[in-house]
Amino acid sequence: MRLLIRGGRVADPAQGIDECLDILLENGKIARLGRNLPAEDARVLDADGLVAAPGLVDMHVHLREPGFEAKETVATGCAAAARGGVTTLVAMPNTRPATDCPGIVKLVRAKAAPTGVNVLPAGAVTLGQKGEVLTDFAALKAAGVPALTDDGVPIQNMALLRQAMQEAKRLNLPLLDHCEDRDMVQNYAVNEGAVSQKLGLPGRPAVAEELQIMRDVMLAEDTGAHVHICHISTAKGVNIVRQAKARGIRVTCETCPQYFTFTEEEVLRQGTMARVNPPLRTQADVEGIRAGLVDGTIDAIVTDHAPHTAEEKSKPLPDAPSGMVGLETSLALALTGLYHTGLLSLNRMLALMSASPAALLGLDKGTLVPGRDADLVLFDPNQEWVIDKEQFVSKGRNTPFHGRTVRGKVKYTISRGNIIYQEG
Ligand code: DOR
Ligand code: ZN
Repeated sequence: MRLLIRGGRVADPAQGIDECLDILLENGKIARLGRNLPAEDARVLDADGLVAAPGLVDMHVHLREPGFEAKETVATGCAAAARGGVTTLVAMPNTRPATDCPGIVKLVRAKAAPTGVNVLPAGAVTLGQKGEVLTDFAALKAAGVPALTDDGVPIQNMALLRQAMQEAKRLNLPLLDHCEDRDMVQNYAVNEGAVSQKLGLPGRPAVAEELQIMRDVMLAEDTGAHVHICHISTAKGVNIVRQAKARGIRVTCETCPQYFTFTEEEVLRQGTMARVNPPLRTQADVEGIRAGLVDGTIDAIVTDHAPHTAEEKSKPLPDAPSGMVGLETSLALALTGLYHTGLLSLNRMLALMSASPAALLGLDKGTLVPGRDADLVLFDPNQEWVIDKEQFVSKGRNTPFHGRTVRGKVKYTISRGNIIYQEG
């Protein structure tokens, strides 16, 4: 099986390539990059006007299966990933049962296998994500988890967290941490500030997130573990990571399109659609996130794709679940908000969505080096379109980006040499 991608703008940050080249795929691998490659018996895919880049690596996705199939299944989540140009994703363990033992890892992997998307379930840090007893990290690692996390549920017990880091370090697994002090945030719906005041609701203070980032940085220094801060949302949080990195501490972090696009004001306009944990913050925070993306403090752009049903999201703001879907819109939002605005070059932006998360997870993904898996996304970087949640293949329609005009559209997604999504 040979496929020749002809005439595209090949953007491969890991190799420092951004030029017009042909790409030959053979037996599921990248065979060659070059000018005017002969087609011979290969199927030719015309990429004129398109960017050909490594398939996106989204290291923060909630697939919901097992247990919450009304929100999403592995199959529908993977279809959404393919439609968004994502070929590798890390599935969060807050399912029911939680991914706290090898059996669930295997179940999720088996469900994902036919989709063509490379799904890597993350292992839970604690049994049932209850924050009480550590899982068997070695067994989870043997089952193939790329990282450990209790995402969705902040870990409060510092002694337990320190022990988790010591064990994660021993096994060379990164620990992905959802940072928010649970006592401070409770089940509150919005950022603490102008909007929470206007709504007369208690809020989730920025310091609740920043304190746990600071705590994690100190524990990372103490234990030598690689700690990765999930979905960073505040300017001060970015500063803490920036300073920690300067001191040589093994800390990395990620953010999501919602945090470089929206402020807390969006909750006034869109209600529960804009409810997410951590919450949308202030304009100063949005600017701090953008600065962190520009100077390299932030290592990855992820979606935190968190589907919920329409019924759940139709509840009053204090009762509705937090989260928004993102797999089908992340590339367009990053292109629109970061590349077309001139904040990041195309390759810097793409690195944050492929090479960099792959590297920090130790995956052989995120680049078009010959010999690697032929995972690619082909997109028109300039095409304008309007985000329409009714077109989503995800079960989740909970997006605050519905109706937004964006620039950049996925045309093909290729995984191990197979076309797993094609527009239209
Ligand atoms: O808003 C969120 N939703 N944040 C999380 O950390 C978890 C996620 C979910 O699972 O719904
Ligand atoms: Zn989280």
